[in-house]
This record gives sequence, structure tokens and C-alpha cells, in this order.
Amino acid sequence: MSTETEYRPGLADVPAAKSAISFIDGKRARLEYRGIAVETLAKESCFEETAYLLLKGELPTQKQLAEFDSELRQRRKIKSRLKDLIKCMPEHGHPMEALQTSVAALGMFYPCRDVSDPAKNWDAALRLIATLPTLVAAFARIRQGDEPIDPRPDLDHSANFYWMLFERVPSPAIRKVIDAALITHAEHTMNASTFTCRVTGSTLASPYATIASAIGSLAGPLHGGANEEALSMFEQISSVANVKPWFEKALANKAKIMGFGHRVYKVKDPRAAVIQELAEHVFAESTRPEKYEIALELEKVAAPVLGSKGIYPNVDFFSGVVYESLGIAKDLFTPVFAVARVVGWVAHWLEQLQDNRIFRPEQIYVGQRDVAYVPLEKRP
Ligand code: SDX
Repeated sequence: MSTETEYRPGLADVPAAKSAISFIDGKRARLEYRGIAVETLAKESCFEETAYLLLKGELPTQKQLAEFDSELRQRRKIKSRLKDLIKCMPEHGHPMEALQTSVAALGMFYPCRDVSDPAKNWDAALRLIATLPTLVAAFARIRQGDEPIDPRPDLDHSANFYWMLFERVPSPAIRKVIDAALITHAEHTMNASTFTCRVTGSTLASPYATIASAIGSLAGPLHGGANEEALSMFEQISSVANVKPWFEKALANKAKIMGFGHRVYKVKDPRAAVIQELAEHVFAESTRPEKYEIALELEKVAAPVLGSKGIYPNVDFFSGVVYESLGIAKDLFTPVFAVARVVGWVAHWLEQLQDNRIFRPEQIYVGQRDVAYVPLEKRP
């Protein structure tokens, strides 16, 4: 029988699994993927290599990377009937709902309901990583009345994603920004959507159902949806001069500042710093958007008040400003997060299956007991 002292709201600080995939030191702003600092990977690596590292546990040889890259490129295309399904979706629906629906449907075209076969699981893992960009771009194009753009086998993962969104090849600088942003968002220990993924995967559900459930979890504004909320917040503030009065009013109303705070980081999220560097890089080539100036001013104004409580910018604070500067629509920010995080989810799914036990925690019952049944005719 569980007791009150064992109960941890939100499972804060409760280890839900043993994992070797990533590590966070929330006090020292340290995030490592298989022991390598995320800043180093964002600078030196590429999305494909980082995905291999997260999945396999070590950096690939040149031959292994070439093979892995080719395996992904072969799986980017989606069935025409899946495009037809996306064409039936209401164009005003949120792209995260379209993505969750599409991924569940993907599992109907490539069934993998028996997860005991490592070769089939690996094929599903590759297909999920390879097709999420295609699914996100397809809905983005179809909802505006355009035909989806087919993936190009001659472009790498990040450049191909941009190509499918805009039908133009990104400059090397823009490609690098997308690639580094995807690397930075790829994995983050036991966050809500990864935990969701492990719970669903622990029932031996198919990888497509497992990833569809994780997408649903990421969509929430307290999690991956915060990047879209943060940009809306900057739009609502509307000017640098309005930041201080807006912030004071938000504090008085005990409102959550979107893009701020974290269950684990009690200092500035190291990924926020990486994304801020990308922003500076992008804006060095053009004028700094007002929303970026607003974000910088809000960080400055909020720091003395929220900083004392260990509340600092997280990964979602600056990412939207960068994505918008690349021409990505606000409601596509969280799908971009999913395009990256699917690697972490798949890595955790495979790790869960290696030593699986279905998740079934306890509860503290606070309801009534031994209640008598009163027949309807005897009730008021
Ligand atoms: C992501 O877990 C991960 O790793 C997630 C993620 C990943 O890569 O997977 O890093 C991605 O989801 C980042 C977080 C994105 N969400 C937001 O930016 C939404 C705003 N942030 C908050 O909702 C909050 O900070 C959370 C959800 C991120 C963390 O919530 P916790 O750990 O449950 O903290 P809490 O809500 O219990 O707050 C503790 C205190 C409260 O004050 P008191 O009631 O104790 O006085 O801190 C305050 C909160 O009011 N607080 C904030 C705040 N976040 C916490 N006050 C103002 N603004 C905020 N953003």
C-alpha cells in the first residue's frame, strides 16, 4: 500500500528507467548524448551522425554513416494513399494533430505489431526518422492548396526537409542552422513525451502507435508546444518598451512565462544558448527581428525575479524566433521539434524493449469506500 510520503507530483525526481542514451546536469547546464556534449555535436556533427550515435551508442565509422544515411534516404517517400489521407484532413487542424494521425496511419502501411523481431524494429525506427519530415511538410503544403513536394535523394536530412517545405534548396548557412537546431532538440532524458513513449512501448504496442502517443504528449503547451506559445507571447508584448510592464502584469497574475523554467535545469538551458548562437548567426546576415529584441529584453527583465527561483530560458524560448526567420509558420514549430525528437523517442523505445517490464505505477486512493448502491427509483 503506497503512502503519502512516497507520492511525488509529476514524478519529480523519481527515476522511471535506467538509460544510457543522454545525461543532464541541471545545475551545471550540461547535456550529453552518449557522453558527448550537445554543444559539440551541434557545432561539429550532423543530424544523421547524431541520430546514429543516439541509436547505436557510439559515433559511426565513415562506412556505417554512409550506409545509415542511405537507409534513411530510401525511406523518405510516403505512399500516395497516405497523401490522400492527409488531403482529407481539415486544413485548419493543428499540424501536430495531422502528424499524430499520419504516424498512426503509417503503421497501417508498414505493420510492425510484433516487436520481437529486431530487424523489423530497426526498419520501423529508420522509417519513422526518415518520414516525419515528409509528413510535416506534406500537411503544410496540402493545407495551403499545394501538392506535397517529393523528397530529394540528393539532399541530406535537414536540406531535404527545407526543400519539401519551400521547394528550394537552403543555403549552406540555413542548412547548418536547421541541422544544429534538430541536433539540439533530438534527445533529453526522461521528458514527458519520452516517458510517454516508454510507457506505450512497454505494452509491446507497435512503434508507430508508440511514436504517435509521444507526439500527442509533445504537443502540450507545457512541453513541446511552448515554442509556439513563446512566439505568441512576443507578439502579444509587441514592443521592447512594453516588456517590463507586460512582465510585471504577468507576474502579478502568476502567469507562466512560456519558454522559461524547467524541471531539471535550474540555470539557463544549454540548448537555449546554442539556439541563441544560431539566432545571432542568422541575424548577422540580416536585421535582427523585433521579436528577438523582445526576447532578449524579457530575458533581462525576468532574470532578477525568476532567476532567484532557478527559472531561466529553456530550449523553447528562442527557437521560434529562429524558425520564423527561416520562413517556418508558427504552428509548425512543434512539428519541427518532433522531427528531431523522434530520434530520442526511438532510441528509448529500443532501449525499453531490451529489458522491458510494463509500466504500472501505484496511486494513493483518496475516494470513498464501501458505498451502498441506491436504485434509480429511490434517488431524487
Ligand atoms: C520542454 O522535461 C524536459 O526535458 C522537457 C524539454 C525536452 O527537451 O523534452 O526540455 C522540453 O518541454 C521545455 C519546457 C517548455 N515549457 C515551457 O516553457 C512552459 C513554461 N514552463 C513551466 O510550465 C514549467 O517551468 C515547466 C513545465 C517547464 C516545469 O514545470 P515544473 O517543474 O512542474 O515546475 P512548476 O510548474 O511546479 O513550478 C515551480 C514554481 C511555481 O511557483 P510556486 O507555485 O512554487 O510559487 O516555479 C514557478 C511556478 O509558478 N514557475 C514559473 C515558470 N515555471 C515555473 N513561473 C513563471 N513562469 C514560468 N515559466
